[in-house]
Amino acid sequence: MCGIIGYTGYEQAEKKITTGLEILEYRGYDSVGACLLKNGKHEITKVKGRINDLKARLSLGENEQAFTGIGHTRWATHGSPSDENAHPHKVGRVTLVHNGIIENYESIKAGLIKEGITFFSDTDSEVACALINKYYNESTHPCVAILKALREIRGSYAFAIMFEGYEGEIFALRYSSPLLVAKDKNGSYLASDITAFLPFTKEYATIHEGEIAHLTKDEIKIYSHDGTFEPQWQTTNLDYASAKKGGYEHFMLKEIYEQPDVVNECVLKRVKDFLPDFSYDKIDSEIFEGIKNIHIVACGSAMHAGMLGARLIEELSGVSASAFIASEYRYSPPLFHSPTLVIAISQSGETMDTLSALRYAKGSGCKILAIVNTHSSSIAREADKAIYTEAGPEIAVATTKGYISQLAILYLIACYLGLIRGRVNSIQCQEYIKDILDASNDMKKALERTSELRAFAEKIKDSEHLYYIGRGIDYSLCMEASLKLKEISYIHSEAYPAGELKHGTISLIENNTPVFAICTDERLYDKTKSNIKEVKARGANTFILCFSGAREPQKSAEHVFVLNGRSKISRLLNGVLTCQIIAYETARLRGCEIDRPRNLAKSVTVE
Ligand code: F6R
Repeated sequence: MCGIIGYTGYEQAEKKITTGLEILEYRGYDSVGACLLKNGKHEITKVKGRINDLKARLSLGENEQAFTGIGHTRWATHGSPSDENAHPHKVGRVTLVHNGIIENYESIKAGLIKEGITFFSDTDSEVACALINKYYNESTHPCVAILKALREIRGSYAFAIMFEGYEGEIFALRYSSPLLVAKDKNGSYLASDITAFLPFTKEYATIHEGEIAHLTKDEIKIYSHDGTFEPQWQTTNLDYASAKKGGYEHFMLKEIYEQPDVVNECVLKRVKDFLPDFSYDKIDSEIFEGIKNIHIVACGSAMHAGMLGARLIEELSGVSASAFIASEYRYSPPLFHSPTLVIAISQSGETMDTLSALRYAKGSGCKILAIVNTHSSSIAREADKAIYTEAGPEIAVATTKGYISQLAILYLIACYLGLIRGRVNSIQCQEYIKDILDASNDMKKALERTSELRAFAEKIKDSEHLYYIGRGIDYSLCMEASLKLKEISYIHSEAYPAGELKHGTISLIENNTPVFAICTDERLYDKTKSNIKEVKARGANTFILCFSGAREPQKSAEHVFVLNGRSKISRLLNGVLTCQIIAYETARLRGCEIDRPRNLAKSVTVE
């Protein structure tokens, strides 16, 4: 949800900023802009459009140099995508870029207008800029102006700010929105996401809430109530190559193909003698001890992973588990049958709705376990314990490997809980672990069958509406399959519990409406088959994705895809993979911009 980058040092800032913005584009791509310090002046270039539009306008003249700058790629919240609403904003002697939402900007703006300030955009960010500028004068240090403005601001923010009079310096701070700093021998950097530093350096540090980072060419200082100190430097093990396409047509395809290895690595790090073991994450049985129930909070695909995980946990361990849409969690407060363990799932680790649900549960006395991909992210830091999925940077906006890694971890938790609660014995548990390791091989083989799924995509590519139906755990899978398809191909798709269709929605089935049934569970096969027949009788074009060994699937649906994998977990993971490929191939045939679907952003840091 908006990407921020900043650089000051000994090399040309333009190149650093545009390279960083290209990497951060997944965070929002409604508009893009940069401010470069040229001859002591803040020169702003911004445009409704993409990085290449910015690059075309930015090019420095032959003798021009700029060693300091800030940049921004926007996902619009306040004010439509336009040149005026693009960042950076400059008011008086202050220029800033912002990620987040200033909730009380309207009242601050009204006050500033009365004081004679003119605004040129509809954004809350320009208001923050004007407020900081109001408190900034010849005798005030930038930090004092920032702190005075903060007393009036309510909301979330990550700011990178340049002040006239402080040439070659950048000030940065955050509250609820992510922001990191980094350094190398060529200068100092800041960015919303570690991936933006990877072309330059691996040494980074988090800016904590309540701190102001002060970047100069040679050093970064952190100011806080406790004094002035050096950032706590860490070294990332991510590399730049993993954040590039590596020969694939799209990041999404690359990430789909990475999934067998992601599952394998996720599991191998957390098993000893084929039994689950979380010592890699410095987690022992304590966090799970005595829990009466589990609440899983997450958004979008992560919530779908949670739905599936909740079923696995209940089945393997007997602990009651439910998944909640994080943005709803606080408004229909669940009953906490103490002790409740809350599991917050998030690829980015920054999703504001999930973070707010986590804070609510923590405030209610629950223990929090986070499943996150991004190291040092807010959700990981605020949880009592964190399991890092370590799936590598996920660049495509639609999640694939992030989601599958969450499923793998949830499956391990289900096995672990089953074991420590005596619901499964170690021999059974070892079988379950072998099943998921085999699943990774089954997925590799499934990736050789994409042409079968391309043929399905051909059949649905011109449809306006589509349905995914399934029962039990397969319904949770349908939710993800349906979301994946609609978000990247723009075909309206709904997931429905197969048995529920006849209670109303079946009236929407017309001649040739595609209906996909997913059936990974033998116990539900006959019933799901009847539901396919019901829609087929009403003209639907029917597809079934079913387990191998299913009796005569070709008699139930026109198009059949037999999922790889014999075990339950393998069928589920292969079901996920299959639906991702159907979505990808369909979007490709429709000429959609797969890695950057319209209106979306990768990291949703607003409520
Ligand atoms: C869909 C998708 C989103 C995210 C959701 C949560 O493909 O990617 O639905 O799953 O926005 O994001 P994280 O996992 O970063 O909290």
